[in-house]
Amino acid sequence: MTNSLVSSLTPAHLRFLEGLFPGGDLVTDPAAMAVYGADSSRRAAMPFAVARPREEGQVVELLKWAEAEAVPIVPRARGTGMSGGAVPVCGGVVVSCLHLNRVLDIDADDFCAEVEPGVVTAEFQALTQKRGLFYPPDPASLKISTLGGNVATCAGGMRAVKYGVTRDYVLGVRAVLPGGRIMDAGGRSHKNVVGLDLTRLFVGSCGTLGLITKMTLKLLPLPEGSATVLAGFASLPAALEGARGVFRAGVLPTAMEFMDSKACWAIGQIRDVPWGAQTQAVLVLKVDGGKAALAAEMARLEAALAPAAPLCLFKGLGPKEEEPLWELRRLVSPAGFRLGPDKLGEDVAVPRGKTAQAVEGFQAIGAEQGVQVACYGHLGDGNIHVNIFYDAADEGQRQRAQASKEAVFRLTLSLGGTLSGEHGTGITKGPYVQWQLGEEERRLMAGIKQVFDPSGILNPGKGWS
Ligand code: MLT
Ligand code: ZN
Repeated sequence: MTNSLVSSLTPAHLRFLEGLFPGGDLVTDPAAMAVYGADSSRRAAMPFAVARPREEGQVVELLKWAEAEAVPIVPRARGTGMSGGAVPVCGGVVVSCLHLNRVLDIDADDFCAEVEPGVVTAEFQALTQKRGLFYPPDPASLKISTLGGNVATCAGGMRAVKYGVTRDYVLGVRAVLPGGRIMDAGGRSHKNVVGLDLTRLFVGSCGTLGLITKMTLKLLPLPEGSATVLAGFASLPAALEGARGVFRAGVLPTAMEFMDSKACWAIGQIRDVPWGAQTQAVLVLKVDGGKAALAAEMARLEAALAPAAPLCLFKGLGPKEEEPLWELRRLVSPAGFRLGPDKLGEDVAVPRGKTAQAVEGFQAIGAEQGVQVACYGHLGDGNIHVNIFYDAADEGQRQRAQASKEAVFRLTLSLGGTLSGEHGTGITKGPYVQWQLGEEERRLMAGIKQVFDPSGILNPGKGWS
């Protein structure tokens, strides 16, 4: 499909684009375009041009033209994706959604909001909170990432253990399809079982089916309060036992995160950390709800952790005290580079009951291969970030890192897990998708792609598409 796409723009193409995106909204200078070709996966490719629409009508005209001219179109938000989903591997026109950034409506009666894709996640959350409402998805990059990017990747985050992921909060999607067709799926009703669920099909589709121009998001009542516990343990098994104890005690935390010894060490290289040198693993847990019930919930958490003998335990009551504890957790990703200049950042997920087996197995793989492997992330969901550090200038290390990645994938699949819990397949997992998806699943997915994008212009070269 992608063979027939154009490999550069003609002068006539450029004239069309300049007419459609006047006043600096078309970027063709290579130095200015470079930033639009990379994302947080540290992969990069050069687009032919970058378009920055301000109105849906421009997107419609663009996609009519792109289909007729076989020009690849690569949707893009803030580039915080971890798997190269926004990297224009076949060139083409990168379409930035950052000017489509209006919050159109926040409705406290319908418990929903209508937003454009370029709205920044944390800014949206702050707006909803002012109205006594709550939008739970909270990817670690929420201060930079956008709602459109979150929907395109089905972003998860820390609160997924109690509240689910982005998919669970998208009630409707309006998108422009190749040829300029408009799909308006779902809406403001919280329940809807008429026809196939095209809305959810779009969530996590990484811009391979259409360009989202509006989303209807579900909101919840804002919990009255929240509290956080950060506990350090003498070993990873002790921390994992502590986590099991929490579930066994019948507590459903809002968030249950962990960091292994290497992740803890890396954070300690860039920040003062509250845990001591004996700490080999850290759990960060959050609970939320009515203020009257919170103290009791915290007491239950502490009691549940006690048999695992935490070496230290710090509490934060309310956002001001909690934030420094969560900031430490969000720092793992940038701090990790203290373990090595290059990283394979994996994001596997396993059934909850297999989490301990998985994490211990991933660490053993690192030890066998002689590479630094840091594990951390969303323990409560079984969604483990396995970061493999190496020096790309050293061919032996590069090969051992690659072998470690494949061993991590094999172990994950043997435990009934999945190659990506929340980062998506993008380009970094492309060749491995076949390890997980059966022939029939792939055939059906290819068929769906064909229905939405028969000429294959949308985000070519990505994942399963
Ligand atoms: C996180 O949970 O910190 C993010 O998903 C990014 C990462 O993989 O480090
Ligand atoms: Zn994560």
